[in-house]
Amino acid sequence: MTVAHVPETDVLRAQDPELAELLLGELERQSTTLQLIAAENFTSPAVLAALGSPLANKYAEGYPGARHHGGCEIVDVAERIAVDRAKALFGAEHANVQSHSGSSAVLAAYAALLRPGDTVLALGLPYGGHLTHGSPANFSGRWFDFVGYGVDGETGLVDYEQVRTLARSHRPKAIVCGSIAYPRHLDYALFREIADEVGAYLIADAAHPIGLVAGGAAPNPVPYADVVCATTHKVLRGPRGGMILCGAELAERVDRAVFPFTQGGAQMHTIAAKAVAFGEAATDAFTLYAHQVVANARVLTDVLAAEGLAVTTGGTDTHLITADPSPLGVDGRAARGLLAAAGLILDCCALPHGDVRGLRLGTAAVTTQGMGQAEMRRIGVLLATVLREPARTKAVRAEVRELTGGFPPYPG
Ligand SMILES: Cc1ncc(COP(=O)(O)O)c(C=O)c1O
Repeated sequence: MTVAHVPETDVLRAQDPELAELLLGELERQSTTLQLIAAENFTSPAVLAALGSPLANKYAEGYPGARHHGGCEIVDVAERIAVDRAKALFGAEHANVQSHSGSSAVLAAYAALLRPGDTVLALGLPYGGHLTHGSPANFSGRWFDFVGYGVDGETGLVDYEQVRTLARSHRPKAIVCGSIAYPRHLDYALFREIADEVGAYLIADAAHPIGLVAGGAAPNPVPYADVVCATTHKVLRGPRGGMILCGAELAERVDRAVFPFTQGGAQMHTIAAKAVAFGEAATDAFTLYAHQVVANARVLTDVLAAEGLAVTTGGTDTHLITADPSPLGVDGRAARGLLAAAGLILDCCALPHGDVRGLRLGTAAVTTQGMGQAEMRRIGVLLATVLREPARTKAVRAEVRELTGGFPPYPG
């Protein structure tokens, strides 16, 4: 098997067949199973081309026009294009596109605004907060004093009254809004109001919804948050990486927090790939895509609910769904394994209440493949079939192969 748009595959195969086989094996895996991990997507061949370009060779510490290395005149242009496109796409006064990952972006945001020991209010980890939102295993929990807010026990929705009460009593230096597993839109205006009441910075960690924001399918946190952190590789469909958006008054602090405070040389091939992805995200086709992602997630949610899974918050506004499969007699961890054997690849996750683990899935990748609502109905039924009747795993695996065969992520 060769990959038409990556002729270098042949070069790699000749030089290092062991690695070439692994790369092609992964392409085969991605093409013949269903990628339902909410944080994943298929980047375009153009993004892959930028990632595999000679820009990977270039050292470029610093920022365009102010580098510590010579020979940066071309990569400077690429970074300026990425910055300009990000600013235009999200209506931001300033963009920093150098963060190596979403976690690096959050670290830099904290470095820009906080001092070690400051109090920060963020969604608690059991409710979908990210590691960088105060996990004791992460720099955030070690260096800052995190207080967690939660979700309403009945509805699963963020408990904004609790956010306000905790903000009043703890007077945090920053409030973080954003999650790895929250399927609903956040009320950024209300977060802003609460942050203003207690004189806190508002940091939006929009790693998940930022691609929907680009496509006009989710509210934009930029007008409300002091700093917006994001990843570029989820619904946004760019290379693996992070970015930070903010107002002009915080631009210098954010830039210095990224380099030299938390990072060294910028990864210019990734920054060029981010520019390509931002260009793609500004098209009408991407707007249609983002809305289709949400429409697909809603249909899949409805089918899962009809099949007996307990869907958190009763639905979704985004690409992301969390659900408790235990009404079908299996918990999330076991379900993930059963489903993987059938070719449905997804995550298990903490559920807001109860000890059982749930399932977290998303529609970004399958929508990129061109799947629509009919395919979502089929996927929902296949998923429930495996959980209800594990003996049919092999038959479902065959159906997944047949389904994915009609929607190759990289045709040709
Ligand atoms: C809300 C949130 N913040 C931060 C991150 C970290 O991103 P990365 O894995 O690129 O470090 C993620 C990743 O899923 C996330 O969902």
